[in-house]
Amino acid sequence: MQDCRQCHSDPGKAVVTHAPYAAGECSSCHQLAQDKRHPEDRGAVILTGTGARLCNQCHDALDTAKNVHGPVASGDCILCHQPHASKNGNLLNNTGMGLCLNCHENTFSQKKMHGPVADGNCLICHDPHQSDNPFFLKMGLPALCFSCHNPSAMSDKSVHAPVKKGNCLACHDPHGSPYRKHLRKDFPEAFYLPFNPENFAICFDCHALEMILERRTDSLTNFRDGDRNLHFLHVNKIDKGRSCKACHDPHAAEQPKLIKRRIPGFGKWEIPIAFDKKATGGTCVVGCHKPKSYDRTKAVNDQQ
Ligand code: HEC
Ligand code: HEC
Ligand code: HEC
Ligand code: HEC
Ligand code: HEC
Ligand code: HEC
Ligand code: HEC
Ligand code: HEC
Ligand code: HEC
Ligand code: HEC
Repeated sequence: MQDCRQCHSDPGKAVVTHAPYAAGECSSCHQLAQDKRHPEDRGAVILTGTGARLCNQCHDALDTAKNVHGPVASGDCILCHQPHASKNGNLLNNTGMGLCLNCHENTFSQKKMHGPVADGNCLICHDPHQSDNPFFLKMGLPALCFSCHNPSAMSDKSVHAPVKKGNCLACHDPHGSPYRKHLRKDFPEAFYLPFNPENFAICFDCHALEMILERRTDSLTNFRDGDRNLHFLHVNKIDKGRSCKACHDPHAAEQPKLIKRRIPGFGKWEIPIAFDKKATGGTCVVGCHKPKSYDRTKAVNDQQ
């Protein structure tokens, strides 16, 4: 074969040069088509293999896992990699999020981005080639989330069913969202606020909104005294309705029914809550107030 370097000069300021290219082994990837002369004949120089087969002469196949990324499956390695040299590591065409946005729509910058997404660090969660996990994730859930977030707040005595299943994505968008805490739907910061079902939309994805709307019920909730709905009483107020988080932790809590042990009070003082769940009701002591009880079979407090 001709000395290719005679006419094709080295790339300028490449940071990474592909080993066989640097070694001048052009013929491991290029060959002359039979009876053709280069450069006189157009298209005389052809590749020694098509698609991934060219690369797999030297590299392990990257389509062996359960889930293979589209362009890898189709052997379009050079849609992401330069075959000769690049100013980016790993011979990549682009860095960070830019690489992915060559093909994927930028739905990321429209929302409040999740930390690693804002850093353009897609690869901390996704493998670019393949994985046995869905979406080419590097780890399963919730392990992936716990590689950065503390799992201790999620493993108390009572654990919320979707959290126990590791289904963080039921409530959180891994890339970010327009709502706080990267939630898929709204959930407010405040502990007290005028009632509006929109505020707790994330909860009513799975729970029946009626549990907050009906003043009296003998079925919609267990938090009732006789048929007086105590969810309605606490939450459904025009001015100072309570948020769910005034009583519940969305992930896990020390007391039954996701009831928190303490909630923020004044300044640094936290208000303790002691919840004693009984077969047909419960008793609650909040801060230094008198104990309050409810009983579903026989109302404790029938007058209101
Ligand atoms: C005598 C000078 C010369 C040598 C030696 C040479 N090339 Fe080229 N090559 C050219 C020119 C000129 C073009 C541009 C042709 C065009 O634009 O039509 C070219 C184009 C190419 C192309 C683009 C595709 C094509 O066929 O037009 C490839 C691939 C290529 N060369 C590979 C090689 C390889 C591999 C070698 C070594 C085996 C090599 N060339 C040796 C002059 C040379
Ligand atoms: C690892 C495989 C590989 C090696 C080694 C390699 N090439 Fe290539 N080269 C390719 C592929 C793949 C393309 C087609 C790129 C495209 O279609 O975008 C290409 C395209 C080219 C082209 C045309 C486009 C351009 O970049 O100008 C030339 C010229 C070329 N190679 C020259 C060389 C020379 C000279 C060497 C040796 C010093 C070499 N190549 C070594 C894979 C290789
Ligand atoms: C969607 C873009 C994309 C496609 C398509 C792609 N790669 Fe990669 N590749 C990457 C990224 C990003 C890295 C860097 C990985 C990292 O930093 O962890 C990489 C790294 C590599 C590496 C070096 C590190 C390693 O994992 O061994 C090789 C070799 C490689 N790719 C080969 C290939 C081959 C062969 C194909 C085609 C079968 C291919 N790639 C297709 C994005 C891609
Ligand atoms: C002739 C053998 C050969 C072929 C063909 C080949 N590679 Fe490589 N490639 C190597 C060698 C050798 C290294 C260096 C490995 C190392 O440093 O461990 C390398 C390294 C890489 C790297 C890592 C670069 C870095 O940052 O250090 C990537 C990415 C890569 N190859 C992609 C590809 C792709 C994509 C193709 C097909 C277009 C391909 N290779 C074809 C031999 C080859
Ligand atoms: C060369 C084009 C291309 C690039 C670059 C690219 N992708 Fe893809 N990606 C695809 C194609 C094609 C599919 C399969 C079609 C589909 O399901 O959307 C896909 C699918 C995916 C999927 C699975 C989607 C699903 O619904 O199953 C994920 C996750 C993904 N890509 C992440 C990434 C990440 C992260 C990057 C950057 C490292 C990236 N992609 C870069 C073309 C690309
Ligand atoms: C914190 C981990 C994490 C980071 C960082 C991350 N992703 Fe994802 N990505 C996921 C998870 C988890 C899913 C599965 C989403 C689902 O089931 O709703 C996903 C799904 C996807 C999908 C397919 C579904 C969709 O939403 O379109 C694409 C494409 C994708 N990611 C691309 C990217 C790109 C591009 C980046 C960088 C800008 C990125 N991801 C950063 C965790 C992450
Ligand atoms: C690579 C590390 C990393 C991984 C993996 C990761 N996160 Fe994050 N997460 C962060 C960083 C950094 C922040 C702080 C910046 C911000 O608010 O986004 C954050 C913030 C959050 C927040 C908002 C916290 C607050 O107090 O406002 C939530 C909710 C969250 N992540 C959920 C998840 C979920 C769910 C997963 C798994 C799908 C996950 N994270 C995976 C790094 C990570
Ligand atoms: C049922 C819905 C739901 C599920 C499932 C869920 N979260 Fe949350 N998460 C929330 C809500 C609501 C908040 C905001 C709490 C607040 O306003 O104080 C939150 C807040 C967070 C925060 C911010 C820190 C904090 O306590 O305020 C992190 C980090 C977080 N979640 C991670 C996760 C991880 C990891 C998983 C999976 C193991 C997960 N979440 C599952 C609803 C959920
Ligand atoms: C993805 C669906 C889903 C979402 C979203 C969701 N939950 Fe749940 N929740 C469940 C399931 C499933 C159970 C278990 C129901 C059962 O055991 O009958 C449950 C049970 C509960 C319980 C009773 C816990 C126990 O130990 O019996 C409380 C309290 C609760 N959820 C509060 C909330 C709050 C507050 C929100 C909003 C921040 C919320 N949930 C959002 C699915 C969800
Ligand atoms: C004043 C405290 C308090 C507030 C505020 C509160 N809950 Fe509860 N919730 C309870 C108690 C106590 C129970 C346990 C009832 C029982 O089993 O005896 C409960 C039970 C539940 C259950 C289990 C099913 C049921 O109704 O018995 C769900 C689901 C639930 N709450 C969701 C919510 C949601 C969503 C919000 C906010 C819109 C909310 N809670 C606000 C105290 C509260």
